This record gives sequence, structure tokens and C-alpha cells, in this order.
Amino acid sequence: MLFTDMDKDQLMTLKSELDAKFEECKSKALSLNMSRGKPAPDQVAVSFPVLDEIGAKSDLCAEDGTDCTNYGGLDGIPEARKLFADILDTDPEHVMVMGNSSLNIMFDQVARGFTHGYFGNKPWHNYVKVKFLCPVPGYDRHFLVTQHFGIEMVNIPMTSDGPDMDIVEQLVSSDETVKGLWCVPKYSNPTGITFSENTVKRLAALKPAAPDFRIFYDNAYCMHDLYDDAPVLPDILKLCEAAGNPDMVFEFASTSKITFPGAGIAAIAASEGNLKEIKNHLKIQTIGHDKLNQLRHARYFKNADGVREHMKKHADYIRPKFEVVLEGLEAELAGTGVGNWTRPLGGYFISFETLPGCAGRVYEICKEAGVVLTGAGATYPYGKDPQDSNLRIAPTYPSVDELKQATYVFALAVKLATVEKLLK
Ligand SMILES: Cc1ncc(COP(=O)(O)O)c(C=O)c1O
Repeated sequence: MLFTDMDKDQLMTLKSELDAKFEECKSKALSLNMSRGKPAPDQVAVSFPVLDEIGAKSDLCAEDGTDCTNYGGLDGIPEARKLFADILDTDPEHVMVMGNSSLNIMFDQVARGFTHGYFGNKPWHNYVKVKFLCPVPGYDRHFLVTQHFGIEMVNIPMTSDGPDMDIVEQLVSSDETVKGLWCVPKYSNPTGITFSENTVKRLAALKPAAPDFRIFYDNAYCMHDLYDDAPVLPDILKLCEAAGNPDMVFEFASTSKITFPGAGIAAIAASEGNLKEIKNHLKIQTIGHDKLNQLRHARYFKNADGVREHMKKHADYIRPKFEVVLEGLEAELAGTGVGNWTRPLGGYFISFETLPGCAGRVYEICKEAGVVLTGAGATYPYGKDPQDSNLRIAPTYPSVDELKQATYVFALAVKLATVEKLLK
């Protein structure tokens, strides 16, 4: 029965039952965590052979003869550029491979817009106010980077096809202070949705009022399919070029969740003009990234098909974890009307929408019962979810057994928080 159809007596009876179950949960002194968007140690271990790919006795030169044991090579070694070009369905000339973190490259790109400006345009620090469009719910670290520079964040609702493009088009074309748009186009963090082809085409065809507007296209989960019939995204760089906007997009990716989080390799794909400008900054910033790691990855995977094969091993670990959470939510919450949740086909997260005003309370109840969730509000700019309704579930790190228990507690917390709210 829908909780919202219950009268006060029914809600009171239900509350006593839920309270009893909650006390039982607390007595188990659980210590579970569904907040960590990272692979579990046994899953990380599938990448250990990558470490054996090169050793002191191997030939440690890249295919163009670059000595990977020494300084230099700001673009990344050719075979690593080819690997990311294959992954992102673009050309190696549009790719630079850098260090261990794509978030670091994103931060640098925002910083460069702020301190130096792009293509001779006024640096953003000279404006009274600049804005970034932030599809919500979204990735908390994108929002933290933007907030760090004092950039005003504008919430854009997410639809099942991607950001609401009517609003994006209207704001981008009418407001010269809108300088950026964050996107996670495939298996978005946290909703798990993939942008439709039409959304990507509309993004590429934007007509920005600001000449230095950029789409920050964070393709972090481009290879992270859980099932065979995976969605395919068109190449946004090509679409931007065709639409007369060759410089409007920075695309980011890394192997953080392909090999080693924090110890993989990361890349940016962009127009040659953008890459030239980035290189001008980079040559002041570093004498070169870790080319040995680039070599190790490029030799191990060889091409995107090599990565796809490897990702099937990851999927075998992760799929049962997503499924146990989704089955638990279905079993406990179907037909109650207390919330909606996404059923992603890849990526790292499930997004849950409670009734308005319940998410913070669900977080607290879970915590009391020993289940840690990502903080309510974290998926919104400034940590403020206007509806207090979104929660991000990260099922990859705990074991299947732990997830079963944690999902039960989570569902119980959602029911309890909803009953409390309806009784108020
Ligand atoms: C959408 C998204 N982008 C980037 C990152 C971090 O990537 P990296 O490890 O390459 O810095 C994450 C990690 O959770 C993420 O979810």
C-alpha cells in the first residue's frame, strides 16, 4: 500500500513495527559503508598483471623512441595517446595523456580559465561573477572544484536523456557569464543515466554567448558497462567540429576505475587549438608525466578492445553487487511510494530519490544503525539539495553479503523517515 494513502492510525501502527525492526538492526552493531565509489580490493587485483608488463630489463622506450625512464614528452607517449583515442573514439592528435588523475586535469583547466583565460579571452577572475551550469544530482567533486574558484553554480535538472537541454540552451546562449557546463555523459555520477544521442548533438550545437564557454565532458565511465548491450555515445569532438564549435569541449577520461584508482593514467581530448594552449601551460608546470605508467598501460591493453575485455572482469565483480541492492530495494520498497531509484547498466552508483524532506533523515537513521552513506546534499552544488531528497548509493566496495544487510537497513530507514514525515 502507498504510505501516502495511509491514515494516521495506520501510520502509527506501521511506525511501531518499523521502530521494532530498527532496534533489532541497532542491536547487531553493524559497521557497513555504501559511500565509497571505489572498487573493492579483490576487484582491483584483476589489474595486477598490468604491473608486470614492464620491468627494469624491458625495452623502456616508447614506439617513437622516447626514453620513458627520463624527462620529457608533455603530450604523452604515442601508444598511450592512441589507446585513449581508441577508447574515446577520436584521433590521437586530439589527445594528451598526462598523470594519474583526470580530476586533476579538470581542476587545471578551470584554474587556467580563471587565471589566464582561454584563447586570449579575459581571465574569469576579472569578472564580478562567472557561472557554471551543474546538472543535478551530479558529481560532488566537480562542484567542489567550481566552488573553490568562487564560480557561481546554477542547478540544471537531469532528465533520463541527460541535462535538461532547453534550459542549458537558453542559459548558454543568453548569458555571457556562463563559462562552463559539467557533464558525465555515460553512466552519470550518481544517476547512472547515459546521455541520448540527441542530447550530445544539442550540446555540440550550442550557441554560447561567451566565446570562452567550454563543456567539461567528464567521460569517467566510458568503458564501465555491466551488461553486453551497452549504450554508445557519439564522438562529441567530431560533432562540435561539424557544428562549427571545434574548441567548445574538453573531454576527460582515466583508467582510475579500469586499473588502479589514483595510480592509473588520465587524458584530455580536445581540439588542436586547445591542446596547444594546454601545452603552453603544462611546459611551465611540469617536465613530464609518468611515462613508465603510460607505457605499462598501453602495452598491456594495446587498444580499446583490450580494455573492453578487461572491463568484463570488473563487471563480473560489480554486477552481482548492483543486482543485490536493486533486488533488495524492490523487495522492500516496491508499491510503497516512498521513493524512486535508478537501475544503471554501468558505472559506479545508484541514485535514490526519497519524498521531499526525507534524505537527510534517512542518512541519520542509517548512520545510527551502522550504515554509512554519502552525505545527503553531497550530490548538489554547495551541498544543498533543495528538495532534500537525493541519496547516492555506492555498491562496489562492500561484499555482496554486506550489501544485502546494508540495503535492508537503507530501505528500513527510508520507510521510517517517510512515516515520520507523513505523521508531522
Ligand atoms: C565522474 C567522475 N569523474 C572523475 C572521477 C575521478 O577520476 P580520476 O581518478 O581520474 O581523478 C570520478 C571518481 O569517482 C568520477 O566519479
